[in-house]
Amino acid sequence: MTAPKKLFIKTYGCQMNVYDSERMAEALGGQGYVETNTPADADMILMNTCHIREKAAEKVYSELGRFKALKVDNPNLKIGVAGCVAQAEGAEIMRRQPAVDLVVGPQSYHRLPEMEAKVRGGGTALDTDFPEEDKFEKLKSRPKAARGPTAFLTVQEGCDKFCAFCVVPYTRGAEVSRPVSRILDEARNLVERGVREITLLGQNVNAYHGLGANGDESTLAKLIWDLDKVDGLERIRFTTSHPNDMTDELIEAHGTCSKLMPYLHLPVQSGSDRILKRMNRSHTVESYLKVIERIREARPDILMSGDFIVGFPEETEADFQATLDLVKEVKYGYAYSFKYSTRPGTPAAERAQVDAAEADERLQRLQAQITSDQREIQESMVGRTVSVLFEKAGREPGQMIGKSEYLHAVHADVTGIAKGDIAQVRIVEAKTNSLRGEVV
Ligand code: SAH
Ligand code: SF4
Ligand code: F3S
Repeated sequence: MTAPKKLFIKTYGCQMNVYDSERMAEALGGQGYVETNTPADADMILMNTCHIREKAAEKVYSELGRFKALKVDNPNLKIGVAGCVAQAEGAEIMRRQPAVDLVVGPQSYHRLPEMEAKVRGGGTALDTDFPEEDKFEKLKSRPKAARGPTAFLTVQEGCDKFCAFCVVPYTRGAEVSRPVSRILDEARNLVERGVREITLLGQNVNAYHGLGANGDESTLAKLIWDLDKVDGLERIRFTTSHPNDMTDELIEAHGTCSKLMPYLHLPVQSGSDRILKRMNRSHTVESYLKVIERIREARPDILMSGDFIVGFPEETEADFQATLDLVKEVKYGYAYSFKYSTRPGTPAAERAQVDAAEADERLQRLQAQITSDQREIQESMVGRTVSVLFEKAGREPGQMIGKSEYLHAVHADVTGIAKGDIAQVRIVEAKTNSLRGEVV
């Protein structure tokens, strides 16, 4: 028997990349690879990259420089670049860093085994096509191995919205939804392997419209109800949603589907209608707030989360103030804010840029507001009883860490509780990044 080859994968970017890295590891598992946590031991290093902001993309090249050095001691080492930088830059990556053997875009991962064989043979391999065949079907490997209690499951990929700042429609391509039956098969397989909570993923997950069992187009809400019937699956989440695709049935499901967790990530990007229009977001502040009002009617305790861009071209202090006002009004349990980053090829890249120091200063003010709201919400949890899905051992002996239905990290001293168990926990203390509780 030959020793297995070792694969080191480094994942950047969004949750879909986390999901994709698992699929790539499984696909290469068929080629005799096992995963390692040590790049120096690897026969193949794969970087699964993100192109969303300039910093994310530049990090790839500095990291590649470090990995290249490992080839000196290990001439068998092959280096691959996957993900959104691979899609956006293609062959340019190999020109900039000749140590790279393989470049594969997100729509071609099912072709990795052939590509691996090619680079093992001494060649290079490049594939950034948007092929017709069903990538997900070909990537299906169904390993039986046990896994942790939570999992991601991609149900939709790509985006047709073309926000003026965003590379995703170019790197992930047009919106595609997977058929319901395949998603249910994958969910059942995950549950058999110990998964209790599934987060449905899509760049525009609530635009999901995959083929249903009866031959009709399904919807995200219908898919959630189908998953609700999967025995052993206890929790359902989904991300990321666009405000314009929050349908009545999806809003309603938050009030009626007990497996659907009371947490919604609904990026708005800006609180100024003028900027939203320039961003090509196709919703207004008012329509966004209306969605939130309705979802809070359906599920009063829902925790809101969002994304913001500050310093978008032409953003004035008044526009920024409107964003601050919106944040204060919604009160987010979590919010992610970014300084606008110019992405080549997107419409906003051509416009008058906001002064960088000004944008930095706005970002700090926004983050201060967000942190203070977040803190207040966390403190308001003290005294409340939440349900916690325990995921792993805590830092101290006898302690475990899990997530509440609101996605807060909760740690508690436990006895007789195992990974994957859900227990009622009374919160006794709010720490900076987690809550401490007592099992009731
Ligand atoms: N599909 C999701 C998120 C895509 S990227 C959505 O539609 O919301 C995640 C976040 O990155 C975005 O919500 C946005 O806030 C931020 N982002 C995207 N492009 C950016 C850019 N050019 N500069 C700064 N932030 C950006
Ligand atoms: Fe990007 Fe906009 Fe599509 Fe989200 S909706 S992925 S921000 S283009
Ligand atoms: Fe980044 Fe691509 Fe995800 S650009 S955020 S890895 S879709």
